[in-house]
Amino acid sequence: MFGARCLLRALRSCSSAPCPRHKPSAKLSVRDALGAQNASGERVKVQGWIRSVRSQKEVLFLHVNDGSSLESLQVVADSSFDSRELAFGSSVEVQGQLVKSLSKRQNVELKAEKIEVVGNCDAKAFPFKYKERHPLEYLRQYPHLRCRTNVQGSILRVRSEATAAIHSFFKPSSKIKVPEENFFNVPVFLTVSGQLHLEVMSGAFTQVFTFGPTFRAENSQSRRHLAEFYMVEAEISFLESLQDLMQVMEGLFKTTTMTVLSNCPEDVELCHKFIAPGQKDRLEHMLKNNFLIISYTEAMEILKQASQNFTFTPEWGADLHTEHEKYLVKHCGDIPVFVINYPLALKPFYMRDNEDSPQHTVAAVDLLVPGVGELFGGSLREERYHFLEQRLARSGLTEAYQWYLDLRRFGSVPHGGFGMGFERYLQCILGIDNIKDVIPFPRFTHSCLL
Ligand code: 4AD
Ligand code: MG
Repeated sequence: MFGARCLLRALRSCSSAPCPRHKPSAKLSVRDALGAQNASGERVKVQGWIRSVRSQKEVLFLHVNDGSSLESLQVVADSSFDSRELAFGSSVEVQGQLVKSLSKRQNVELKAEKIEVVGNCDAKAFPFKYKERHPLEYLRQYPHLRCRTNVQGSILRVRSEATAAIHSFFKPSSKIKVPEENFFNVPVFLTVSGQLHLEVMSGAFTQVFTFGPTFRAENSQSRRHLAEFYMVEAEISFLESLQDLMQVMEGLFKTTTMTVLSNCPEDVELCHKFIAPGQKDRLEHMLKNNFLIISYTEAMEILKQASQNFTFTPEWGADLHTEHEKYLVKHCGDIPVFVINYPLALKPFYMRDNEDSPQHTVAAVDLLVPGVGELFGGSLREERYHFLEQRLARSGLTEAYQWYLDLRRFGSVPHGGFGMGFERYLQCILGIDNIKDVIPFPRFTHSCLL
């Protein structure tokens, strides 16, 4: 999404052209119109979609929304403007005067002088009904139209704001963004992670990140898996401890969330109020507490002592399942918890060996959060040539990963990184139960509607 002021700035810069005889009305986004201080009759033009129509004897009230804010702009028009075409869902262009509103419900309103219906909307056929609050599952059937609803509008604005916040989290300390590669001459596979490429870059730039679509053949219809999701990944050179890595992970979560909360409070509030009551307090609880840290071994002990019966019996060496993650987060008082040092056998070849036999773990870290479970996965990387060589040989990958071994031959440094599932992050802060509701076009097993 453009910044709200971007278009206005562009329009202003166009006005250096020879001055027309009648100054055209300035085009304003709804957000900018609503934010106008001391409105006193400036002529403006607003474009958007009608969210409500109220016709009284002598006046007509319209609410127009253009996606720039949750709140719509009230348009007040003489009843002579009334027409069947001015209906819920129609697109309009309204010109008029921006004035202070007499009502307490809004600061400003637009006194219409001209209303043009740009596109009609057949209210009968339109799947969303005026004033009805449709369940998220219902909206999911209309991926091409659902962004016009309040709730999806809010989620998408939060998504956009969080994206910007993530970029600026990494930007100030001159972290380099690595572009996702997209042009090939040889058979290739869609990436499941940008990590190995980030590791290449971390051989020249000490802090790098990437943020883009990631593809997985997840045969899962769960409420936290997609076949295409967005992942934020970072890689840091000269990093020697999981503590330091976890600090960046916690910092990313908290800084991004604080920015989103302060930049789009109404959108967040809508989700917290109507979709996930209680989520505001749960999120505050997460933000004000230091995240906890337990080892995988401790996690297993906690699970074994649990009064609850699990479908998958917890035992050392076995993976943590969703039911275990949920239990652990509850056990930790609904504070996000880092689980560190997993069995070597469970994790990929690149994770750093802790050399702690007989257990034999690697320096891996997952962050588990309330409502979602695993949100981040990361590790220290095996930077020691001989360790890595042996691990690759055991997996029969030596040949394919010669280039990766090379990174350990030429100026290798201790390093580590992580990936955060962006949709799971949005689920976590907004309290949205199903991942399909926080991405514009969800693609998952047996479903690619758009
Ligand atoms: O734990 P994962 O698989 O970690 C990696 O891919 C590392 N190579 C990242 C790195 O170290 N650079 O994935 C990271 C996160 C998960 O914790 C989860 O939040 C999210 O990505 N994720 C998914 N989100 C939605 N749908 C899926 N199918 C996901 N698979 C992973
Ligand atoms: Mg993982």
